[in-house]
Amino acid sequence: MNKKLIALLSLLVIASMALTACGGGAATEAPAATEAPAATEAPAATEAPASEAGQVEVFSWWTGGGEAAGLEAMQAVFESQYPDIEFINAAVAGGAGTNARAVLATRLQSGDPPDSWQGHAGQELIGTYVAGSQIEPLNDLYEAEGWLDVMPETLIPLISQDGNIYSVPVNIHRANVLWYNPALLADNDVEVPNTIDEWFAAMNKLQAAGVQPLALGEQWTKLHLLETVLLGTLGPDAYNGLWDGTTDWGSPEVRIALENYATALSYANSDSASLTWQDASQLVVNGDAAFNVMGDWAEGYFRELGKVPNTDYGWAATPGSDGVFQFLSDSFVLAVGAPDPDAAVAWLKVAGSKEGQEAFNPVKGSICARTDCDKSLFGEYLQSAMDDWSTDIVVGSLTHGVVANDSWKTEIDTALGLFLADGNVDNFQAALVAACSSSGACQ
Ligand code: GAL
Repeated sequence: MNKKLIALLSLLVIASMALTACGGGAATEAPAATEAPAATEAPAATEAPASEAGQVEVFSWWTGGGEAAGLEAMQAVFESQYPDIEFINAAVAGGAGTNARAVLATRLQSGDPPDSWQGHAGQELIGTYVAGSQIEPLNDLYEAEGWLDVMPETLIPLISQDGNIYSVPVNIHRANVLWYNPALLADNDVEVPNTIDEWFAAMNKLQAAGVQPLALGEQWTKLHLLETVLLGTLGPDAYNGLWDGTTDWGSPEVRIALENYATALSYANSDSASLTWQDASQLVVNGDAAFNVMGDWAEGYFRELGKVPNTDYGWAATPGSDGVFQFLSDSFVLAVGAPDPDAAVAWLKVAGSKEGQEAFNPVKGSICARTDCDKSLFGEYLQSAMDDWSTDIVVGSLTHGVVANDSWKTEIDTALGLFLADGNVDNFQAALVAACSSSGACQ
């Protein structure tokens, strides 16, 4: 793992501690005592089918194209190893978990947790579920399964607090991917853009030729676009500084980034608000739009649609972010008060296993969190993502829970909603300054 990633992750841990200290987290109560639950003790070997009975309710937002198929592949591994445990798929539809997380919050509030749920490594996990004492530490499981030897050691701080590890990462996704339609670009004599200015020039040309330049979907996909434009305009150091208070949200540089963002939005389809991420990314592979900015779960979807890499779709780092990997990681947790903790631990063992991750990731469009997966199982795009993950500068995603806790992210998203309605960059920037301030990161 490269040194820059280590530096970034240490920074995130420090930022997380600072936020907790400042009361910037979504929940400010002290985490509960961290005694290891009985459920995490002495896990059984996972090779032979185990005899445990019971049922495990697994909560996620993987219902749609590409996503459900990945989960099903991991479920099949689980069912072959634990034939007597019933797998209850409690997925709630809606990209990026916008609906699912609201349903989950209600369930947690009413004391009705699923056994295990999907949570993003980073501030989402630490600032919400750990801070709210809603998930159990998994140190014993890590030890029993030998995971500390196979999970990237730099990911561990993002799922840990006070020496306790709280989730099992199943993957690494890349957020800053520009998907494009190779034929539309070639037909219009447009090169794949590297910089933001090249991107705007390309989109001007495409628009003049009657081609829809950019495909966008519902609001969270616009937050996703925003984080990539912030990164592409500011560069990785200043982008990281947004989250630890060292980059001023009120600066002229951020102003330029927001103007770039407004320009990018001007090339988007007018019906974006009513499209899912799948609808929007499908416009590109169907030849109805030239570009889409989306995480690499889109690749899982393209493959499910039978589309061919480098023919039906091409990819590049989002403009201005070549050499930077803006990452996120899906992980699964053990609920405090899980109805069937033994079954939940059995599920977590599969989620953290080589077999589980090798079944899940090539379909999901992500690379393994584990460092020992067989590269040859993965397609061309994901092999390139593996290379980039090991050589690029790594920064964290906002939309997918790494860099800001839920309350800060919600405030940014509220400001974005107003901006999408009124288009006023001054007000948007002022609201982002205020959001940083109330998060505790910018005092
Ligand atoms: C992300 C999640 C990905 C993918 C995406 C779209 O938040 O980490 O695995 O599901 O949302 O739904």
